[in-house]
Amino acid sequence: MDQAIFTRYLSGKARIFWQLIICEEVTKSNATFLNACEILNRLSLYADIGVMAYEQLSIIDHIKELREKRNAVILAHNYQRPEVQDIADYTGDSLGLSKMAAATSADVIVFCGVHFMAETAKILSPEKKVLLPDMKAGCPMANMIKPSQLQALQDGNPHAKTVCYVNSSAEIKAMSDLCCTSSNAVHIIRQAFDEDDKIIFVPDKHLGNYVSSQVKHEIILWPGYCPTHIKILPEHIHDMKEAFPNAEVLVHPECYFRVIELADKALSTGQMLEYVAQSDGMAFIIGTERELLYRLRKDNPGKTFYHVTEYAVCPNMKKITLEKVLASLKHMTGEIMLSDEVIHRAGRSIREMLKYSQ
Ligand code: 13P
Ligand code: SF4
Repeated sequence: MDQAIFTRYLSGKARIFWQLIICEEVTKSNATFLNACEILNRLSLYADIGVMAYEQLSIIDHIKELREKRNAVILAHNYQRPEVQDIADYTGDSLGLSKMAAATSADVIVFCGVHFMAETAKILSPEKKVLLPDMKAGCPMANMIKPSQLQALQDGNPHAKTVCYVNSSAEIKAMSDLCCTSSNAVHIIRQAFDEDDKIIFVPDKHLGNYVSSQVKHEIILWPGYCPTHIKILPEHIHDMKEAFPNAEVLVHPECYFRVIELADKALSTGQMLEYVAQSDGMAFIIGTERELLYRLRKDNPGKTFYHVTEYAVCPNMKKITLEKVLASLKHMTGEIMLSDEVIHRAGRSIREMLKYSQ
């Protein structure tokens, strides 16, 4: 049972109790009509708070019950709503979540993230049921390249190798030599290819650009991008550095290159968590989606975190709610279905990536 919610529930109840006593006293001493209205207003507010907290509490209990009954595991990305992160068995970045999906012995994986992440879990664990609690939770960047467009790029560059960012559809992964995440892209390209190999990198032009600045290989970019990370602008970094000169600046490699150049480090969300945990620094400016700060603050209570801009929020990640997790577990809805052929071919590029990321 979630202690914070239970406390809120009890305090809601206690307040209702006090208001009832006050109400009785006021009525006894000739309450005016306005007094009575004010008291009733407050009473209904506290009653709402109590009922909301109670409902959330019962949703959490219900999810826990069904998780056990179905032998399910709940995986959540670091950008999920706080209450979804709190109910999860494991929270992490794309690479960490893929590793968990490949290793779990559960029969059902409830994936709290976006569509390509749940697909990756299905590819790595095809014998399991993988549920995405809201099928509309997609990643716009992953949809920015279609198989026919990648085919045309490959036909135009017949000797190039194809590396796809994990933020891509299963079909794109099936057409790629290797998959990568933001935490291992540079390492994988350095390890897997000769320096004179030409590489087609899809779909994120910003991550591709960053990788290209770190390796000697010729990289052919595709013009995809993350609508959330491009809301982080160089002026935000300038302003925040001026306001908090002692804070270290950590940004995600999906940001504009001009933003990355102003930062101290470009890291995946999982790498940011690791970096902060081992750093002597006490304050950090965080250039990625808002909800990573929830986990950063939870894991590092003595340290201070500033979100670089309030606009860096991924609306698709927020589509997953506790209610939808419960509904999905209850009715086994939102199942990811892929053909055996795609699972087989996409699985090669993902497993190849995992070999380089032990
Ligand atoms: P991470 O793998 O760094 O968590 O990134 C996933 C993502 O979608 C970033 O926008
Ligand atoms: Fe896709 Fe960007 Fe949202 Fe990540 S933050 S899931 S890349 S839209």
